[in-house]
Amino acid sequence: MLTLPTLNNRPNVAYKGEEGGNLKKQLIHKGSWANADVFLCSQGQNQWVEKGFDGKNLLVRWTIGILLTHRELFISKRLQGIAGIPQGYTRKSLCTLTYDYMDGMVLGAGDLDHAVSVDYFTACEKLLHAIHGKGVVHLDLRRGSNWIIQPDGTPGIIDFQSSLLVNLLPGPLKNFLFSIDYSGLYKMWNRKCVEELDPDRKKIFHRINRLRRFWIFSVAHI
Ligand SMILES: Nc1ncnc2c1ncn2[C@@H]1O[C@H](COP(=O)(O)OP(=O)(O)OP(=O)(O)O)[C@@H](O)[C@H]1O
Ligand SMILES: [Mg+2]
Repeated sequence: MLTLPTLNNRPNVAYKGEEGGNLKKQLIHKGSWANADVFLCSQGQNQWVEKGFDGKNLLVRWTIGILLTHRELFISKRLQGIAGIPQGYTRKSLCTLTYDYMDGMVLGAGDLDHAVSVDYFTACEKLLHAIHGKGVVHLDLRRGSNWIIQPDGTPGIIDFQSSLLVNLLPGPLKNFLFSIDYSGLYKMWNRKCVEELDPDRKKIFHRINRLRRFWIFSVAHI
């Protein structure tokens, strides 16, 4: 079987490799035939995530596997240092990344409906603003599984595989793409927050939803 080469230039990285023994690797998210598998790895006190396409077929690995992995790595470098974004991204192979595990729970969990504080969501809004400030749109924030509530109650955003760098796009298009992210946040806010979405944000949410009907990304996760 043809395998992708492993890259070994990884200083200061989350990926600890197989050396050193006691490496535990647990599947936490099984991707479909064309989606990445996500593993939680641990070795001693270290915990990290391994996300990739190494277990997929050759065609997937050498096409979208490489492409999406490259995109997530590229975007993560732009976002380095923002609190609430996984750090320590590195490449394990051409189509597999490792990065820091973010402790906590995913916002999408069913038992969190109307149970999360307003403070969490206002912090999410600030985090999103910081991401946009780096010229990045996430574009997959309508899924609760891409939002983390960290043990101290602060938000985390993961999964930059669908993200785009937009700083060279014309202003109106860029703002429209940013608003797609906000509509994802407000969808979660509406569903998960103990308090109802306030009228101003609700108005924005409904306006963006109407616009999204004309938008190619709206086919997913309505
Ligand atoms: N850095 C991380 N810290 C904690 N959990 C993580 C991390 N990365 C991934 N996960 C867990 O793995 C799940 C899947 O990861 P991710 O969203 O990156 O993969 P995906 O293939 O894009 O999945 P999906 O298609 O469901 O969005 C997340 O919902 C989360 O539960
Ligand atoms: Mg995801």
